[in-house]
Amino acid sequence: MSNERKTIRFAVIGCGLMGKEFACAVARWCQLTQDMPKPVIVGVCDLSEDARRYFTDNFDTVKYSTTDYHELLAADDIDAVYCAVPHNLHKKFYVDIINAGKHLLAEKPFGIDKADNEAILDAIKAHPEVTVRCSSEFPFFPGAQEMIRWIESGAAGKLIEVRSNFHHSSDMDTSKPINWKRMININGEYGCMGDLGLHAEHIPFRMGWIPETVSAYLSDIVKERPDGKGGVVPCLTWDNAHLVCNVKNADGEFPLIIEMKRICPGATNSWNIEVDGLNQSARFSTDDPNAFYYTEPRGREQAWCRVDVGSKPMIPTITGGIFEFGFSDSILQMWATFMCEIAGIPVPFGCLRPEETALSHKLQTAALISHKEHRAVSLSEV
Ligand SMILES: NC(=O)c1ccc[n+]([C@@H]2O[C@H](COP(=O)([O-])OP(=O)(O)OC[C@H]3O[C@@H](n4cnc5c(N)ncnc54)[C@H](O)[C@@H]3O)[C@@H](O)[C@H]2O)c1
Repeated sequence: MSNERKTIRFAVIGCGLMGKEFACAVARWCQLTQDMPKPVIVGVCDLSEDARRYFTDNFDTVKYSTTDYHELLAADDIDAVYCAVPHNLHKKFYVDIINAGKHLLAEKPFGIDKADNEAILDAIKAHPEVTVRCSSEFPFFPGAQEMIRWIESGAAGKLIEVRSNFHHSSDMDTSKPINWKRMININGEYGCMGDLGLHAEHIPFRMGWIPETVSAYLSDIVKERPDGKGGVVPCLTWDNAHLVCNVKNADGEFPLIIEMKRICPGATNSWNIEVDGLNQSARFSTDDPNAFYYTEPRGREQAWCRVDVGSKPMIPTITGGIFEFGFSDSILQMWATFMCEIAGIPVPFGCLRPEETALSHKLQTAALISHKEHRAVSLSEV
């Protein structure tokens, strides 16, 4: 690796939970051993001065700190943007960033609804010179990468079913005050699907498992929440979503079952995928982040085997392969992958693509109709 890495100058728009995760990945860039450009944070934008101060206190590279992102888009010394703002702002912010000719790593759901998603994709089409991807870090766990290689090897044989899900439980606390992620006008009609859906869909979609129809059951379990000011307000977003999708492949068809739950007892931040095949089955879960599980025949039965894959990420790091891998490592891997994609460096598994977000919007829009009308909905209807 060359000592002097090329740099790509970044602005962060939205300096909250995820904006700060990006900052920490930048601070750890020396952990990566592959030659690729390094992000440098040059500008930050947030309405909150406190949120911006985290960046100005910790990064002496920050030259611009503003409440108006247009200032950053006008700056010639900014090449790329990470934008992590509430869903109702995605369309306006993303379209403006792309039209300004800046590379963009954006956040899910990549538009609050299907119409906004389409407007963002139109802007991308008009600007082929910029690289645009959507954040989705869990597939970069080494165990998830092992799962992807195993799927691509065809070892499963004829698929029986695929289950992919993302489970939380913090909303079981009914005294938790409402925030923007539980408000339809800011988070969107999709509710938990908008927040958790793309995480559960990234690998299935990349594997070419494209839903033809969906039957959805959506639950609004906690219908009101404290407003944080002594009162109570309605909480109308979907808490949990069960989607049963029909997928066709060369061997026939199989159900792809996707669950996104904010109210799942015992789950803190549990991202899981299981692929069951007639020849072999496999699964990965962030609940056991170093493990890859697969079946082996034992006579006529199947035994679940566990292999500890350790820290062998897709983009090599200085960390010893025997050590444990975690959430912030997956964020670093995703960012390293995005930097490779901007620079045209080939990667075995790329970041979530705009067209995959479009498929997600089709699926989730169809799921809303399916739940409302109590019927299976074809994705070609939406
Ligand atoms: N990839 C992941 O694992 C993951 C996890 C959580 C959230 N997200 C996504 O990231 C995005 C942001 O979520 P978050 O959890 O970081 O939210 P957050 O509320 O912690 O941060 C959002 C920030 O945007 C700022 N903001 C709001 N309006 C603004 C405006 N007009 N101009 C500038 N800044 C403004 C807020 O002040 C806040 O600091 C969402 O799209 C969310 O779905 C992704």
